[in-house]
Amino acid sequence: MGWKLMRNALVIGGTGMLAPIAVWLAKKDYHVYVIGRSNERLENLGSRIGKNNFTPIQVDYRDKQALKKKLLSIKSENARFDLVLAWVRTNAEASLAEIIKLNSSKGTNSSWSLLHVLGSQRNPYETMNSFEIPADCIYRQVQLGFKIEGEVSRWLTNEEISSGVIGALSNSSPLNIIGQTEPPEMRPRY
Ligand SMILES: NC(=O)c1ccc[n+]([C@@H]2O[C@H](COP(=O)([O-])OP(=O)(O)OC[C@H]3O[C@@H](n4cnc5c(N)ncnc54)[C@H](OP(=O)(O)O)[C@@H]3O)[C@@H](O)[C@H]2O)c1
Repeated sequence: MGWKLMRNALVIGGTGMLAPIAVWLAKKDYHVYVIGRSNERLENLGSRIGKNNFTPIQVDYRDKQALKKKLLSIKSENARFDLVLAWVRTNAEASLAEIIKLNSSKGTNSSWSLLHVLGSQRNPYETMNSFEIPADCIYRQVQLGFKIEGEVSRWLTNEEISSGVIGALSNSSPLNIIGQTEPPEMRPRY
C-alpha cells in the first residue's frame, strides 16, 4: 500500500452551510480541522467525516485569546494549514487576521491558501485591503450573491453555495461570485 501525504485544511464556521465542503475536503485527502461553538454540531460533522480525518476545534472565534490558545496547541503537533476556508462574521475579522498571522509564522517555505467567504453586501476589494496578507499566503475570495429568476430574486440555496465554493476551491481566480451581487436593487428582501 502506498503512503499518502495528508494536507491540512482549517474550515472556520464549518459546521453550518460549509459542512458539505468539510466532507468534500476530507474525501480529497485533507485532514480537516473545523472551528465552531456547538459541540453537538461538531460531533455530527465528525461522524460524517470519520475521526481519522477530522479534528474539532470548539471555540467562540470572537474570543481571540481562546482561539489563539487552541490553535497554538495544534501548531505544536502539526505543520501549518495548507488551506484555510473562512466564513467569519464581520465582527470577528480581527480573529481571522490572527489566524493568518499564526499560520504564516509556522516557518516553512511553501505557500498556503486562504479562501475567504464573503456575504453579498461586502465590498471584496475593501475587505481584502483590510487584512495584512503575508507573502506566503495566497488570498482569494468567494462571494455569496443571489439569483434572479424571471422578475424575482432569491438567496442561494445551500447546494448552490456548496457547489460554488467547490468551484472556487478548484480554480485559481482571485474572486468567485456565486450567483450575482448586482444590481443591488434586485437583492432579495428576506
Ligand atoms: N447570499 C446568500 O445567499 C447567503 C449569504 C449568507 C448566508 N446565507 C444563508 O444563510 C444561512 C445561515 O447563515 P449563517 O451565517 O448562520 O451560516 P452557517 O454556516 O449556517 O453558520 C455559521 C457557522 O459559523 C459557526 N459560528 C458562528 N459564530 C461563531 C462563533 N462566534 N465562533 C465559532 N464559530 C461560529 C457556526 O457554528 P456554531 O453556531 O456552532 O458556532 C457555523 O458553523 C446559510 O445556511 C445560507 O444558506 C445565504
